[in-house]
Amino acid sequence: MTALADSLRALDIGAVPVATPTGRLVGAQGLLLESAGCRLHTGQRCRIETVDGGWLDAQVVGFREKISYLMPFKKANGLATGARVLPAPPQSDLMIGPSWLGRMVNGMGEPIDGLGRLGGDQPLSGAPPRVNPLKKAPVAEPLDVGVRAINAMLTIGKGQRVGLMAGSGVGKSVLLGLITRQTVADVIVVGLIGERNREVREFVERSLGPEGLKRSVLVVAPADESPLMRVMATEMCHAIAAHFRDRGQNVLLLCDSLTRYAMALREVALSLGEPPATRGYPPSVFSNLPQLVESAGNGENPNGSMSAIYTVLAEGDDQQDPVVDSARAILDGHIVLTRELAERGHYPAIDVAQSISRCMAQVASPEHTLAARKLKAALARHARVRDLIPLGAYVPGADPETDQAVRLQPQIEAFLCQGTREAAPLPGCVDQLKALMA
Ligand SMILES: Nc1ncnc2c1ncn2[C@@H]1O[C@H](COP(=O)(O)OP(=O)(O)OP(=O)(O)O)[C@@H](O)[C@H]1O
Ligand SMILES: [Mg+2]
Repeated sequence: MTALADSLRALDIGAVPVATPTGRLVGAQGLLLESAGCRLHTGQRCRIETVDGGWLDAQVVGFREKISYLMPFKKANGLATGARVLPAPPQSDLMIGPSWLGRMVNGMGEPIDGLGRLGGDQPLSGAPPRVNPLKKAPVAEPLDVGVRAINAMLTIGKGQRVGLMAGSGVGKSVLLGLITRQTVADVIVVGLIGERNREVREFVERSLGPEGLKRSVLVVAPADESPLMRVMATEMCHAIAAHFRDRGQNVLLLCDSLTRYAMALREVALSLGEPPATRGYPPSVFSNLPQLVESAGNGENPNGSMSAIYTVLAEGDDQQDPVVDSARAILDGHIVLTRELAERGHYPAIDVAQSISRCMAQVASPEHTLAARKLKAALARHARVRDLIPLGAYVPGADPETDQAVRLQPQIEAFLCQGTREAAPLPGCVDQLKALMA
């Protein structure tokens, strides 16, 4: 036996090439492609031959008996029945490093800014790592987002996850841009998911600018990308932010929008045959949302933090929209923007009364919290008599607190409004609030 092994070794045969198993395309329906004749596993990448000799990348998303279901990363054009399906070689791990700052990538982590290959020395998986809840660093320090209404009234902590909720065109993206420019953070990761193509360039040029871009990584999957790419891009921006957080940096993750992510999940789940439940969203969407949101927030490294801000679209201005409702329940705070304020030219159109920051008590001083509570109370008192004032039916003197709220109203409005180029650092906001409500 040893003699045989020795003589085989002497022949130096080397590695013997093994034939790659090949499947065939047997069906294409909606977003789903069906392949037979080759054993594939879920999550595996495949390449499908197109009629013009090119290849279309796809991922295995399910199977039934001998049929595997694939979903393409790009629009499926030029596919014919019987086309070859090749399992792609296992992807070499994506590598990440500081050279990713200032770059723009797609959902697969491929550069799309035309600036060449991305370097890095640390492996990056497509999904963010899970953090042991007992080892998560607590939210203990305030995060200066540079927006007066938020810094003063809805203070956010480092590691908090917040939603900006509003109907369409109320100013979510503009507010996100303002936060991007003003926030004090080491790294900003921006996920532009399922929104307009036009907004990508605008965001880079107007909201980030050359200085902002240097400390940012953009993950982009606009509305014309396949649903699978939109899902992957959302997970990718969480993974990138978690990478920098775990290396001890203060990271801000901005995601526009969480609703488009939910819609992409809906498209994938419906094509796989899952039954629709609330407003056409299958149940799996509402189990995926918490998984994504839980991957944001602080990690085990106490020096690093990851705060996240998601925009959430309230379809038809409905605050009971299922995605809004679910986001409100799983996030650590919600900032509601209303059309009524936007129509009055009150920007950012933040409705302080309807919004809440669940970590404010942990990161704001007792005097600051008290002043914020007084301002909220003044707003509520003014709201009760607002309709009477233009009619001349409001008679001062009955309730001194309401009189004071009416008198302060113009100053409160001016305090809560802010121009898109105006900076409002946190300490100044708190001092102004205390002086206003003294
Ligand atoms: N702070 C602001 N100052 C002045 N105008 C604003 C401000 N915020 C929003 N607007 C106006 O509202 C428009 C819509 O804003 P934006 O694109 O941010 O809305 P959105 O909520 O992101 O909408 P969608 O849900 O459709 O993405 C802007 O083009 C701008 O004209
Ligand atoms: Mg928008």
